[in-house]
Amino acid sequence: MRHVWTMLLGMTFAVLTGVGCEREAGSTGGAGSGATTQSSGDRVKIGFLVKQPEEPWFQTEWKFAEQASNEKGFDLIKIGATDGEKTLSAIDNLAAQGAKGFVICTPDVRLGPAIKAKADANNLKVLSVDDRFLGADGKPMENVHYVGISARKIGEMVGKNLAEQMKARGWTNADTGLCVVTFDELETARDRTEGAMEALAAAGFPKAKMFRTPQKTSDVQGAFDAANILLTQHPGVKNWLVCGLNDNTVMGAIRAMEGRNIGPDRTCGIGINGTDALVEFKKDKPTGFHASVLLTARRHGYETADMMHKWVTQGVEPPKTTFTEGILITRDTYEKIMREQGML
Ligand code: GLA
Repeated sequence: MRHVWTMLLGMTFAVLTGVGCEREAGSTGGAGSGATTQSSGDRVKIGFLVKQPEEPWFQTEWKFAEQASNEKGFDLIKIGATDGEKTLSAIDNLAAQGAKGFVICTPDVRLGPAIKAKADANNLKVLSVDDRFLGADGKPMENVHYVGISARKIGEMVGKNLAEQMKARGWTNADTGLCVVTFDELETARDRTEGAMEALAAAGFPKAKMFRTPQKTSDVQGAFDAANILLTQHPGVKNWLVCGLNDNTVMGAIRAMEGRNIGPDRTCGIGINGTDALVEFKKDKPTGFHASVLLTARRHGYETADMMHKWVTQGVEPPKTTFTEGILITRDTYEKIMREQGML
């Protein structure tokens, strides 16, 4: 009972003060305070919930969504939805603020049915981005609209480029191992690592030298721990190729290798996102983090917010699924390519 009251009080507090949400007022100004609700009058409000607000990828998505809110004239309510409880109460919170719909990268894809039910109960439209909802049967929820990357194809790009790098460095199958940091509970992650392994296999890299190691959390630390376990198990491997879910995964594995004095002459990792690889490329000296596949954050942020806006204001339903592409960037090419993509 006491717990219920504390929760209700907490939610009322959040609704009244906007705590837990970061409001973007769009072009009417007055960001951040309760005043925004009044000043923005009958402007449409759209939520944008992300699972890891600290990750540059999600900050970039938000940045592009803000651009859409400014250009199209709606209010964007940004919420860090880091766990199930926060996500579900954030949806009630959005409804209480009069939002019409939201874009979401869920903290857990198994929350899909609960998120959809809550959205329906509150009469909110929902568009999932990045991580696709799973139904109770463990299959992707076809009735929820989704914008995500062409994960297998992008994984294959990683594998193909790792194979090319291996050749360019003169490494042989005998003295090289592939460190695959996996996060199989997430379909988009599994497709990326499987695509990478398939492309390497197609290039003649032996399956027996592909070593999988699961990360418990999808962040740098989770990947660091996973790679350390693998390195302990395979002390005989001379050169390491590295792939995984995203830039942070590859970065974690490269850090684990550096910790064991396995430097850039013996490591070659290729990440995914591009946004999170910047810190690595900006370092004075090259590290084992060789390249990344730059994803189209603008499509995932601007376009999704715009799709939601058109849906709630004009009844234009977005396509059921949208799959986006990626471009390989390295230390030498990232500045030019990211500038061309409007990301620098
Ligand atoms: C997942 C990952 C993110 C990013 C997106 C791209 O959500 O966790 O880092 O790669 O996919 O869709």
